[in-house]
Amino acid sequence: MDRYILGIESSCDETAASVVRNGREVLSNVINTQIDLHKVYGGVVPEIASRKHIENIDAVIDEALSEAKMELSDMDAIAVTYGPGLVGALLVGVSSAKAIAYAANKPLVPVNHIRGHISANFIAHPDLKPPFVCLVASGGHSHIVNVKDYTSFAVLGRTRDDAAGEAFDKIARVLGLGYPGGPLIDKLAKKGNPKAIEFPRVKMDGNSLDFSFSGVKTAVINYIHKAEQRGEEINAADVAASFQEAVTDALCGHTIEGALRCGVKTVAVAGGVAANSQLREKMTEMCKKNGMEAVYPPPILCTDNAAMIACAGYFGFEKGDRAGLDLNAVPNLPLE
Ligand code: KG4
Ligand code: ZN
Repeated sequence: MDRYILGIESSCDETAASVVRNGREVLSNVINTQIDLHKVYGGVVPEIASRKHIENIDAVIDEALSEAKMELSDMDAIAVTYGPGLVGALLVGVSSAKAIAYAANKPLVPVNHIRGHISANFIAHPDLKPPFVCLVASGGHSHIVNVKDYTSFAVLGRTRDDAAGEAFDKIARVLGLGYPGGPLIDKLAKKGNPKAIEFPRVKMDGNSLDFSFSGVKTAVINYIHKAEQRGEEINAADVAASFQEAVTDALCGHTIEGALRCGVKTVAVAGGVAANSQLREKMTEMCKKNGMEAVYPPPILCTDNAAMIACAGYFGFEKGDRAGLDLNAVPNLPLE
């Protein structure tokens, strides 16, 4: 029997809803992004995000159902992101999902946003099966995850300071490129030389697969400031390419090491930074050298969306995950 899940996502600055059949078949994927509203502030303003989610969420959910040509009564469950994320933003999705689940008498399935990002790969690759190792790199998180099963995860490494996307956004800001910075650095870096400037790569103690991006971020900022003080012009494309080279070296190197330790043959990438063209190229090449395959979602499933939440919700639903009407937002929800 076919299973239909309505997914709802509002953890950051995208209000999104989606209907997914049997976990992997997307019937609708509606995303209302607030990027233009937050752009002027150079980053997401939580209070504005919450207000906009409230304004938009009903229409987004209606559109997801009508695009899928389905009614609420056709759904088997309502899946919603309850963390991690901005508390006020999360609460909008969680409250709507609870109200709908109660009114339509449907099971409510709580979904971890990072598990959702990983699940985007199940949609993009219908034959993909665990175990595999997944790099999740977004504006808020950088994790290397051993995906042992559809609902069983172990964190192999994580960032100790900034998330990878956060570093992209910060460097784009100091280069005067705008927000969000990842896609702008990606584009500018194509015109630069990634070997022009040697920015530092952090080596962690012992066997740790953890990341640290604050060092490279500071090095880039210092480089720009020093040039300014000397009245020298910088080559922004070289800076972008060299910064991107340092970050993707760390992301790919640690992920491949994690995959080797776990003995898996597949490496997946997820989260907004997974849209980065150099990251994809480098990961594909490094996987090939190590007899592994690299897989990615298309860019629309890399950044925040509700199809990935419905997919993760499907696997949670099948396992028996249920939430009551006392479900709350958990801003720092851990992955495991
Ligand atoms: O997954 P996402 O939409 O939201 C979070 O859960 O954080 O990720 C957004 C992040 C931003 O920091 C953005 O700059 C980054 O993903 N990003 C990229 C690219 N596209 C988006 N970073 C590097 N290269 C890109 N092409
Ligand atoms: Zn995200």
